This record gives sequence, C-alpha cells and structure tokens, in this order.
Amino acid sequence: MKLFVNGKEIDVPAAAMDKRIVEFLREDLDLTGAKNACDIGACGACTILVNDEPIRICIKRVKDFAGQRILTIEGLAAADGTLHPLQQAFVDCGAIQCGFCTPGMVLTAHAFLLKNPRPTREQVRRAIFQNLCRCTGYQQIIDAIEQAAPHYQREERGLQSASASKKPAAKKSSKDTALANVEAG
Ligand code: FES
Ligand code: FES
Repeated sequence: MKLFVNGKEIDVPAAAMDKRIVEFLREDLDLTGAKNACDIGACGACTILVNDEPIRICIKRVKDFAGQRILTIEGLAAADGTLHPLQQAFVDCGAIQCGFCTPGMVLTAHAFLLKNPRPTREQVRRAIFQNLCRCTGYQQIIDAIEQAAPHYQREERGLQSASASKKPAAKKSSKDTALANVEAG
C-alpha cells in the first residue's frame, strides 16, 4: 500500500497497515507535528490535510488512507525551511503560545483559505471553532488567518490567469472572419 505524504511516495509495510496513522506519522516517518491529544476526535490537535480537506486522524488507521495525498505541517513550509506565509502570520500575530494546537490550527486555516481567500472575521471564527486552543483566547489566531488571506488571494489570481492563458483562443465565427476581411481590405 502507498501513501503520498508531503509530496513523497511512501511504501507502507504490511505490518503498519493497522497502526493508527497519527502514530505511523510520528514514529515511523518522524513527522511529529500532528499531536495525539484527546484521542477521540474532539480537539483538532491531530488534524492533517487529506486531499486538501482537514481530517482528524487520532481515531484512524493507516489503511484508511491508501493512495491518498496527505499534507502535514512539515510539508507546508518551503524546502529551504522558509515558513509559509500563514505560518509566518501566526508568528507575527503572537498566535502561538504552547504550540500544541498550532499544527492542526494552521492546517485547518490553510484548507479554509484555499477555498475562501476573502473571508469575513466571522467566517474565520467559524472555520476554526472546532480546533481547541487552551492558551491564546483565539483572537491572535483569527488575526493571523486574516493577515495571511491576501497571500491566498494572490495565489487564486495566479491560478486564474494561468488557466486563462491555457484556454484555446475562441474560434472565430464566420461573421468575425468577414469583418476581419473587410478591415484588412
Ligand atoms: S487528538 Fe485527534 S481530535 Fe484530539
Ligand atoms: S497555543 Fe497552546 S493550545 Fe493553542
């Protein structure tokens, strides 16, 4: 069985298929960002992205993710270690205190901003309300997500212009051709 974790293909040994995936990531792949906290799917500390959707993995097994595309917090920063703009916004806004909730919070916010890069503050609040933070009082986290939103707006514009430039030119109608001939003549 294969997993795709942070852009790398991982061959999962048969013996690990029934292991809980949070333990597989932490112990076998040394990806310790996802935390095992409540163990009942209630706090969000174990959140990763699976095909861009936030998933709480503390009650899931490795085999549940066969062939899926997984992003952990370790895969969000650039290869040279430069923080992603959303991570940097968490730092800048003081949205990290003990840091226990942070990987799950950042990935939940990342998935949200990919879908909604122009959120209202209320939408941000609702997007993260199921991720628990014991330290910050949430305001700095909401500030950070708002601060990072322009990055996602630029990404969205980049994707739109890339897809527009790939579109084949519209076929000219016979009327267009006739007009062009008139203008050329
Ligand atoms: S550890 Fe998974 S939701 Fe709390
Ligand atoms: S920063 Fe400590 S739980 Fe959120």
